[in-house]
Amino acid sequence: MEPNLVNSSLVEDFKRGMLQGRKSIPPKYFYDDVGSRLFDQICDLPEYYPTRIESGLLKNISTELIDFVKPDCLTELGSGASRKTEHLLDACNRSNHGLLYEPVDVCEEMLNWSSDNLQKKYDWLSVEPILADYTKEVKWKVDDNRRRLFIFLGGTIGNFDANLALQFLKKLKNDMGLDDYLLIGADRVKRPDLLHAAYNDKAGYTAEFNLNVLSVFNRQLKTKFVKDNFFHYAFYNPIESQIEMHLVSSGEQCVEVSTLNEKVYFNQGESILTEISRKFTRKSFEKLLKKAGFEVDKHFESDQLKFSLVLAHPTAR
Ligand code: AVJ
Repeated sequence: MEPNLVNSSLVEDFKRGMLQGRKSIPPKYFYDDVGSRLFDQICDLPEYYPTRIESGLLKNISTELIDFVKPDCLTELGSGASRKTEHLLDACNRSNHGLLYEPVDVCEEMLNWSSDNLQKKYDWLSVEPILADYTKEVKWKVDDNRRRLFIFLGGTIGNFDANLALQFLKKLKNDMGLDDYLLIGADRVKRPDLLHAAYNDKAGYTAEFNLNVLSVFNRQLKTKFVKDNFFHYAFYNPIESQIEMHLVSSGEQCVEVSTLNEKVYFNQGESILTEISRKFTRKSFEKLLKKAGFEVDKHFESDQLKFSLVLAHPTAR
């Protein structure tokens, strides 16, 4: 994550979220080199089911999907290690479909690694990585009449609250052409104990991932957060149907922010809300997409309805 390029909003987000009222910070700051790698490790944890389930589902539907959409270009928002994407690339290969792959991510290291990796595996593929924050304006590299399939996997849409999710999807829709499609993943409402376990893994990777945002602050804002003075706290809120992830201050403390010439005060037990991860029903997710101006083409559900992948296109054509 390059301080000035992708991360220009940290100062504003920190001022808005950390210096007044209830403390919070947008989850995108998790994903520096260390955080992106930690997330990739989380994906392999026994408790963290979403990646495995979504990947299996994607593998099952990939041929049907690619034959239906026939994309010329695959644009992935938040591509990370692009591991799941390979199922779609394999399907393109099977149906002899030449393709441009355009991964978008805030982590330069991960972006370069995954681009090289895919380029080696798929010699027929053109890869055009874009280092960018997809919640902001993105400059697409190719901007012509190619049919694009946007993909937004992992259930990351759940990181946005209801309002932001709607805004984000509306904006994405406006970027889409007449014949473009969106494939979007959503984690489903399920037994709270399974959800709880997924964000409280025994090996402690999720805790480390959560605490890593303090290192990002320390490095980029020259703050003096001490990780030992905070603990990971994540729970499922069944009323809001969302995981809430916090960093809780173990005691009263005051943290210096040299770059901003400010101090952040914490009471004992006071927390920073670092992430929400909303869980959807089939209905609530389709409702969100429709409200944002999409029409659902196909709704794929995994075994036991653990995860959804939805193919949709802009309604106003
Ligand atoms: C990458 C946003 C889908 O919300 O489950 C994993 C991030 N946070 N463990 C999620 C995450 C804690 C993840 N997403």
